[in-house]
Amino acid sequence: MQKLVYVGMSADMIHPGHLNIIKEAAKLGSVTVGVLTDAAVASYKRLPYLTYEQRAEIVSNIKGVDRVIPQTTLDYVPNLLKLRPDYVVHGDDWLVGVQAKTRQRIIETMAEWGGKVIDIPYTQGISSTAMNQHIKEIGTTPDIRLKRLRRLINAKKVVRILESHNGLTGLIIENTSVMVNGIKQEFDGMWASSLTDSTSKGKPDIEAVDITNRLHDLNDALEVTTKPVIFDGDTGGKNEHFVFTVRTLERLGISAVIIEDKVGLKQNSLFGVDAIQKQATIEDFCSKIKAGKNAQITDDFMVIARVESLIAGKPVEDALERAFAYVDAGADGVMIHSKNKDGMDIKEFCLRFREKNTTTPLVAVPTTYNQFTEDELAQWGINVVIYANHLLRSAYPAMVNCAKSILEHQRSLEASQDYCMPIKEILELIPGTKKN
Ligand code: SPV
Ligand code: MG
Repeated sequence: MQKLVYVGMSADMIHPGHLNIIKEAAKLGSVTVGVLTDAAVASYKRLPYLTYEQRAEIVSNIKGVDRVIPQTTLDYVPNLLKLRPDYVVHGDDWLVGVQAKTRQRIIETMAEWGGKVIDIPYTQGISSTAMNQHIKEIGTTPDIRLKRLRRLINAKKVVRILESHNGLTGLIIENTSVMVNGIKQEFDGMWASSLTDSTSKGKPDIEAVDITNRLHDLNDALEVTTKPVIFDGDTGGKNEHFVFTVRTLERLGISAVIIEDKVGLKQNSLFGVDAIQKQATIEDFCSKIKAGKNAQITDDFMVIARVESLIAGKPVEDALERAFAYVDAGADGVMIHSKNKDGMDIKEFCLRFREKNTTTPLVAVPTTYNQFTEDELAQWGINVVIYANHLLRSAYPAMVNCAKSILEHQRSLEASQDYCMPIKEILELIPGTKKN
């Protein structure tokens, strides 16, 4: 009887190394490729450029592949128990590093039915990391960027978003990563915050900086990044104006707009009841959501309704009533906001919302209740966490200290030493600054 061979791969960027593994696998028997789903890939690295369906289709057309099935976890074991293959074939790069553990688990599992792991010499000279870098240089299209947020929400336990207010902060979000327990951690996308967009212009967060101006500046970040953007749409303005905003955002490849259920002069939510926070009627806000949903062209763009009841000092009950009504009106997600420090009102809201609705994405902005980790917030049922103002808030004190130091010393020596990056670093920060 023909032997059964299993190969697991994410197959986002197929290169000769993959083809070689499949060729070697096919020499051993009938090849089943487990293509990792978006969720499986996102559990340890960046979401693939191509969707699962696209990747599965590509792999199923490779010579030597007999069958493609989804592998829904990074862990091979669930698929192995189902298939009980004679061989698992992989590049020998997994003998070292974090993947070594995965390999060991596979060996132990397959021992049960006498299956073997075959390590194929890794094809040298091809690096997915280098290919990834090239793709970033090529960039993205509005269409791909727009779709990415929904894919991330479906694939990840929690989507991690950071505020960006210019091209440079966009680049920080695009490129910053750290390794935590062998897993690469990075931001999934950007928040175009009304607070930091206004503040960076020296203006108050009261919708004084108009949408045209904000989009003009957002374009700087779009030019140099590929990650998705959630746009802070404030109140959304008049219904008749909101429909234009939706169309414009969609055309630019923005994934979502969040509008808050406030009326009158909008004031920043973090004032809480220290400012006048007047909410729209449920009926009026629902009609704004409907107007936005009717205006969009794609199925992917999201209109997210932001409930300001807790900001306005009202009970969780009021927030829930509004959230359910907004979802019924067509909202693709709910952002619940609060300025309480203990986070218990947010937790209660989320748990009670999830009793009745398990699917609509919940968005939170834990600026004041920042003691909770993303994992803890995800346990309450939150899908998207927005760090709404942190790049601006960290940059400003550094700049003020630098300015004060120059005034105090009447020269810049101390400021350069204490607060500034070296000249060489600023010159090398942006690729292409020096032309050879
Ligand atoms: C923003 O970042 O502009 C927001 C979030 O709307 S908050 O400032 O907390 O209201
Ligand atoms: Mg705002």
